[in-house]
Amino acid sequence: MANFLEINGISKYFKLGKGQIQVLEDLTFKVSSGELICLIGPSGCGKTTLLRIIAGLEKQTSGQILLEGKAIEATGRERVMVFQEPRLFPWLTLEENIAFGIKGRVEKKILRHIVQEMLEMVSLSEFAKAMPHQLSGGMAQRAAIARALATEPLILLLDEPFAALDAQTRSELQNDFLRLWQSTHKTCIHVTHDIDEALILGQRIIIMQPSPGSIREIIPVPFPYPRCPDELDFITLKKKIRDLFTFI
Ligand SMILES: Nc1ncnc2c1ncn2[C@@H]1O[C@H](COP(=O)(O)OP(=O)(O)O)[C@@H](O)[C@H]1O
Ligand SMILES: [Mg+2]
Repeated sequence: MANFLEINGISKYFKLGKGQIQVLEDLTFKVSSGELICLIGPSGCGKTTLLRIIAGLEKQTSGQILLEGKAIEATGRERVMVFQEPRLFPWLTLEENIAFGIKGRVEKKILRHIVQEMLEMVSLSEFAKAMPHQLSGGMAQRAAIARALATEPLILLLDEPFAALDAQTRSELQNDFLRLWQSTHKTCIHVTHDIDEALILGQRIIIMQPSPGSIREIIPVPFPYPRCPDELDFITLKKKIRDLFTFI
């Protein structure tokens, strides 16, 4: 479906003292079903605000977001956010954390099955009974993604999910995430401030610029997966994006 998600002329003002500040200006783009989009831009350019508006956690000042032709007015199960911190409940085991969002909505047997499937998908089956503090940062973040997927959303909104991880773990999670995306074909909007990450993951990269947050350029990434950061095409496109950034 070509116009699965449509962001149409989104602007956002926040109240600031007696006045107001414009954070987003006239953002317009379309996302196809199953697409993996990376959104990059300097800190403060409104990436989180845009994700929150798509999630329905924040209301735009003007413009409209259509999901399968219907305007988004509030939060909904079909859109789920993943944050920089895993935000697992510390008093629940890993399997209880993953079950949390769907408990009561499905039969116990099905619930158990979904939780097992999700744990397998992120290679954490052995840690089903572990408490969050017993997990490494990378494992906790994989668990957070599993918890998000367990709710069977149509769209995953990921807000710098790997930014707090060390380079090695980040690279592992990028690969895990690609594998998950390829097997589930969820529509993903993945915010990152890392150009390499955007080039490793994104089918398209939306580059934002600040003051007020707007779209600088949308760049398709034509390379097949898995991508290799040492290849000339990769390096050339990376340089092009970096050059765009120096003008922002
Ligand atoms: N609730 C709010 N009230 C006022 N200003 C806000 C609020 N949330 C975000 N902002 C401002 O909006 C701008 C964009 O923030 P944010 O969306 O977090 O950017 P990014 O995620 O790209 O770093 C920043 O200047 C921030 O201070
Ligand atoms: Mg942010």
